[in-house]
Formats: sequence, C-alpha cells, structure tokens
Amino acid sequence: MLAAGVVLGLTASAYLVFAGYGVLRRVLNQRQIDRLAEDLLRARLQTALVEQADREQVRLHWNGLRKFLVDRKVTETHDTSSFYLKPHDGKSLPLFHAGQFLTFRLHVPREQRPVVRCYSLSSGPDSETYRITVKRVKDGIASQFLHDCVQQGDLLDVMAPRGDFCIEPSHNRPTVLLAGGVGITPLLSMACSLTRSGAGAETWLIYGVRTAEDCLLKDELQDLTDTNPNLHVRVGMSGSPDDAAADFHGRISIDYLKRILASNNYDFYTCGPPPMMKSLVADLREWGVPPTSIHTEAFGASSVQVVSAAMKTDSEVDENSDNERDTGVTVNFAKSSKTGTWTGGAANLLSFAESLDICIDAGCRAGSCGSCVTAIRSGSVKYLETPGYSCDDNTCLPCVAIPDGQLELDA
Ligand SMILES: Cc1cc2nc3c(=O)[nH]c(=O)nc-3n(C[C@H](O)[C@H](O)[C@H](O)COP(=O)(O)OP(=O)(O)OC[C@H]3O[C@@H](n4cnc5c(N)ncnc54)[C@H](O)[C@@H]3O)c2cc1C
Ligand code: FES
Repeated sequence: MLAAGVVLGLTASAYLVFAGYGVLRRVLNQRQIDRLAEDLLRARLQTALVEQADREQVRLHWNGLRKFLVDRKVTETHDTSSFYLKPHDGKSLPLFHAGQFLTFRLHVPREQRPVVRCYSLSSGPDSETYRITVKRVKDGIASQFLHDCVQQGDLLDVMAPRGDFCIEPSHNRPTVLLAGGVGITPLLSMACSLTRSGAGAETWLIYGVRTAEDCLLKDELQDLTDTNPNLHVRVGMSGSPDDAAADFHGRISIDYLKRILASNNYDFYTCGPPPMMKSLVADLREWGVPPTSIHTEAFGASSVQVVSAAMKTDSEVDENSDNERDTGVTVNFAKSSKTGTWTGGAANLLSFAESLDICIDAGCRAGSCGSCVTAIRSGSVKYLETPGYSCDDNTCLPCVAIPDGQLELDA
C-alpha cells in the first residue's frame, strides 16, 4: 500500500516536473520568437530609414545650375580665400561625399562666354552650407574673379556636387591622404568626414607646403588631430630648411612615407601639383601599391595626363603603347561649321576643338564634371580612360574622348 503510494507520488512529481519543463520550454521558445520578431522589425525599420534617407538625398539633388549666395568670404592665407555658400532658395542641400567638387559657371566681366571651373568642397559633408577654398592663380580668369570681384551677398551659379575621388564615412581601411598646396581641399574634407563618423582606422594626412604662411586651414587641422586619436597629421615645408613649424623639411617623398608607415598596405588618396602627383604615384606603384589602392584628383588637364602616365608601370606602358588612335579621320563640328583631320596630335577631342577655335564648356577636363557633354550626330568615340561621369551612347565627353572613325559632333 505504502509502496503504491510512493510510486504514485513519484509519478505525480515526475509528471509535474515534465509538465513544468514543457511550460518553461514553451515560454523560452516564445521569448526567443518575440526577440527574433523584434530584431526583424528593427532591421526593417533601419532599412526603411536608410531608403528614406536615400530618397531624400535624391530629392535634394539638383540638375543643371542652382543659385548660391556667398554667405561668407574668408581670407585664409596671402593667396587663398574660402567661400561659404548657401542655396538661395533656402532649401536643404544634399550631403556630398567627402572629396567631391562643385562646378561653377561664372559670369566674368569682359569674358565672351561664362567661365566654367570646378572647386573641391573643403569642409566636411554638411546639409546647410558648402565651402570652397580657392587659390589665386597668376593671370587666372576664374580665381582672380573670385578673389577680386565676388563678395559676401553675391549670387553664383553652381552645379551639384560630383566626382568619384571620394571616401565613405564608414571607410575602415588604413588610409594615407597626400596633399600638396591647395590640393589639401578634398583631403581635408575626407579627414573631417572620417573624424565625424568616428571611423577607427589609422589615417595619415601628409601635407606639403612651401612655408608656414602657405599652410591652409591650420586651426581646423589642429582641431581634427585633437579630436581624432587615429588621425596623424604631418606638415612638410620645402621653402626654408629651418621653419620650426615643419614636421619635416623638403617635399613629400616615398622615402619619407617608408619611414613613417608600417607597410605599403594602405589606401592612398593624393591631390597636388602635377610634379608631386607624377613622382608620388610612380613611386607608390614602384613600392608595390596596387593601382586600385591609389586614388588621385587632378586639378587640371596637365595633372590628368601626368597621373595617367605615372599610374602605369613600364610593362603596362609597353603593352598600351599602341593606344588605338585612329589617324586621318575627319571630325566635323556641325554648329561651328568646321571640319578638321584628326592626326592624333591632340590629347583629346576637347583640345582638338580648341585648336580649331571651337569653344566647348569645360570644367574639370578629366571626365568627371559633365560640363563638356556634347551630342554625337554621327559616328562614335572611344575613351582612353573610363570617365567618372556617365553619359549615353548619343553623347560624349570630348575632354577625355578621341574619335573612333569619322565623327560629327553637335558643337
Ligand atoms: C576637380 C577639380 C577640383 C579643383 N579644386 C580646386 C580647389 O579646391 N581650389 C583651387 O584653388 N583650385 C581648384 N581647382 C582648379 C580650378 O578649377 C581652376 O583650374 C583654377 O582656379 C585656375 O583657374 P583660373 O580660371 O583662375 O585660371 P585659368 O584662366 O584657367 O588659367 C590657368 C593658368 O593657365 C594660364 N593660361 C590660361 N590660358 C592660357 C593660354 N592660352 N596659354 C598659356 N597659358 C594660359 C594662366 O596664365 C594661368 O596661369 C580644381 C580643379 C578641378 C578640376
Ligand atoms: S570638362 Fe568635365 S567632364 Fe569634360
């Protein structure tokens, strides 16, 4: 009798334990399901927010020209000034990618046609204001005009930010920014963007100037180094060997880079005068840095040509020595009623047109800004380098194109 009671008690307890375990498991499973559902909801919300932000950026983007007010003009050094620009319509601005540039169509007195020029955005991405920093070039049309004639309160015609020399805020590879003179502008913007995003990768900003007086936006560089422990700024001065403000003397060289960098395994971004770009790009290639890790911004046609040549190693130059230039073909410029024979002497169709006194708007002369887009009436063109600005088969970018057989352009 007692034994039967014990067995019954044990069975009842076992049943209760199993039943309790089953309930507990169901509760735990339900909790896990709830947690997964919550995670899914959060991920969907995040995706929706990102998509909404993307749509907003597309909405804020503009085509063609937009009026900008010069909100502030600040003298930075003896030959450079910054211009803070706000949209005249008072609406928000699309966030640009650090490193991009603006294209201006300037109405310069005594110039027959508007002058088109590009200027890199020199501040970190901002939805309220854009900033450019312009160096006065001796006898330069646009830079003299901006320095001497454009004042606070003036309106300028500006195209939306463009360019693929840029860095994402989330960039997480060790990075070296190599700047020469006013070429600091896009690289400073990149350093700002990386600092604001809190990206943790090691970043070097090596900045070459002539003397301490030529060093642009010093306070901003100092603020960035104070805020960002991963950013190391080094300023080199080539003008006077005893300038106490210099971190190193002389020009930026591959030997200096080899001394301060742990290896060549960095992403390199460089912008500066053509001789600096030419030697640094060639030396980086020689050091074994792959072309995909070298990013360059050319401030003019001469930089485009030297960088493109320096990017190729000797064997690649040999392989590409026959660069498929069709010579002897005729190029007709319909609107100007002029025809020329392409001899291969001109670097591209833009220079060829200019040699025939035909004016085509051109800002970057590097296939990035789109200001030279010209319709093709018949024939086709080919590109020696893939342009950053994309256009359809019925139009071309004469600044980086050459004819591919007989050609008629609407210029
Ligand atoms: C993507 C990009 C970003 C840029 N960012 C910046 C920036 O942030 N800051 C900046 O200051 N600049 C920047 N530039 C350069 C800028 O666009 C202009 O090229 C620069 O300001 C000079 O323009 P300019 O009209 O003053 O000079 P130009 O009138 O174009 O003259 C330039 C030089 O060429 C000489 N020259 C002109 N015509 C002739 C001729 N027929 N024969 C011989 N010589 C001639 C002039 O004397 C002068 O020395 C950038 C360029 C690009 C493409
Ligand atoms: S001038 Fe900028 S794309 Fe040709």
